[in-house]
Amino acid sequence: MAKPRVFVTRQIFSEAIDAVAQVADVQVWQDELPPPRDELLGKVRGVDGLLCLLTDKIDAKLMEVAGPQLKVISQIAVGYENIEVAEATKRGIPVGYTPDVLTKTTADAAFALMMVAARRLAEGWKAVQDGKWQTWHPLHYLGQDVHGSTLGIVGMGRIGLEMAKRARGFDMDVIYCDLIRRDEDEARYVMKYVDLDTLLREADFITLHTNLTDDTYHLIGEEALAKMKPTAVLVNTSRGPVVDMKALYLALRDGWFTAAALDVTEPEPIPMDDPLLTLVNCVIVPHIASASVATRRGMSLLAAENLLKGLRGEKLTTCVNPEVFGA
Ligand code: GLV
Repeated sequence: MAKPRVFVTRQIFSEAIDAVAQVADVQVWQDELPPPRDELLGKVRGVDGLLCLLTDKIDAKLMEVAGPQLKVISQIAVGYENIEVAEATKRGIPVGYTPDVLTKTTADAAFALMMVAARRLAEGWKAVQDGKWQTWHPLHYLGQDVHGSTLGIVGMGRIGLEMAKRARGFDMDVIYCDLIRRDEDEARYVMKYVDLDTLLREADFITLHTNLTDDTYHLIGEEALAKMKPTAVLVNTSRGPVVDMKALYLALRDGWFTAAALDVTEPEPIPMDDPLLTLVNCVIVPHIASASVATRRGMSLLAAENLLKGLRGEKLTTCVNPEVFGA
């Protein structure tokens, strides 16, 4: 019997590819950049399995072009807004994703970004590189203390909860808002449920951990930014479009609050003429919050596991639309 065919849209850990190659004919897109749309459509034609990334648009057209034999779409990411999941479900195609394995690593990065922005570390590093370190000065590079402050977590999912845990080690008070109140976790991690308005007004640090949905698109826009404390710091490791970047630029430029640190932008990559890049109080890194060796390896292996299970017609380990497997 012919082996199933699989297309992988970027290089991932080779162990994961090797595992898939034991049972399937695998083709891996070798370029650094995502396959252009036409190439992607060409590559998926006739495949049984697709292992894809956030940067690939997986829509009805692609599923149609791939053909009715397509058994599984396995995404290597916890987010999946690039995939038309309802369409996949309609066609009975399970969609895999990689939650849990990246939770702590992403929270580590969010916490690190918060510290970098609070204490102006990137600005200091740049000054040293530029030869501007002249002396120890009592009034230079003064930032905000993280310890003992109030952390506001928007979106209390897995990563939000890890932020709350980390905050305890820094003697922070934690407030959070979410669609769901987490009574048990509130007691365990000493945190208080508030509405978004209160969070914006009371938090010294605001960290975003929501999904991108119609409800969270530009959730942090001019109105929200205007409510923040002048000393506050905003951290976004969720999705770029949760923040209105134009409003963010104006707010930071005009000193409505102190600083921001972004792992995600709208669009990605951020265009080099975006005015946010001219601000010293906005630290931006290239969507790398889950990028530790162990975590990216774990994501690769989990994505391969989901793909293999899908090819065998088994329930995926982590599935966005488990309803395709029936009750
Ligand atoms: C990255 O942003 C992910 O969703 O895993």
